[in-house]
Amino acid sequence: MDIDDTDIDESYSEGPEEAASRGITRKNLLKAALVAAPLPFLIGGVPALARAARDSGADLAPTPFCHDGDPPTIEQTEGPYFKPNSPLRTVLATSSTPGIPLTVTGFVFGRQCQPLANVLLDFWQADTNGAYDNSGFAFRGHQFTNAQGAYTLTTIVPGLYPGRTRHLHVKVQAPNKPVLTTQTYFPNEPRNNTDTIFDPRLLMTVRQVGSGREASFDFVLNINGTPPTTPPTGRPWKAGTNYAVGDQVTYGGATYRCLVAHLSRPGWEPPNYTFLWRRV
Ligand SMILES: [Fe+2]
Repeated sequence: MDIDDTDIDESYSEGPEEAASRGITRKNLLKAALVAAPLPFLIGGVPALARAARDSGADLAPTPFCHDGDPPTIEQTEGPYFKPNSPLRTVLATSSTPGIPLTVTGFVFGRQCQPLANVLLDFWQADTNGAYDNSGFAFRGHQFTNAQGAYTLTTIVPGLYPGRTRHLHVKVQAPNKPVLTTQTYFPNEPRNNTDTIFDPRLLMTVRQVGSGREASFDFVLNINGTPPTTPPTGRPWKAGTNYAVGDQVTYGGATYRCLVAHLSRPGWEPPNYTFLWRRV
């Protein structure tokens, strides 16, 4: 299945009013929100966004898994540069960070184009010189989609490194669902043609805005319906338990939500590890 079979977004020239006149659906509202924004110079073609999929009645194709071609270390699907326990943040770069400013926005959808809330997105990428921070957490961060299934990442355009075209890495996980490990790409990159890992279905829509870039990409997870986002509450935290992202436990009279899937150990009580648990 191929999400490129969805239409090139004809709605880019369509205003919210026209969208409304065609019948207000959730997808049309999302599209209207998109086209209401100014559209500066578009870099390259217009890869189809999942939100622009035609109301054909067919389910969307899930975002294809994309394995990093770098030599595997621990897990082949992650490439050698993934690190767990990235900071919870949407901003990976400031105005003083070397590199071309980049914002990436989009939605996470299920197969029926239903927006998925509370989905974990864990991004990591190279700096402007093509280097990964393997000792710290520069250009690494995780976040959760909001109630509308939307996310925003503020960063820089990643640099090139030998053997690969320009790309962002990301893990995407809906609550209590499998992790999708994938990469996103930039249009009109010369190395897209020679990188054997590159997949055009993972091209972002990229616009030039001033001296920076604005990219869009919608992830589609192989999920039917809306997964429960409110897991059972009231279970006391216990060592030796496999906790998934979104699980809630009680400890010391407070409730905590799990941020990173892990097997709990004595001493890993929720108040001790804020990167594993957030008090709710
Ligand atoms: Fe990489």
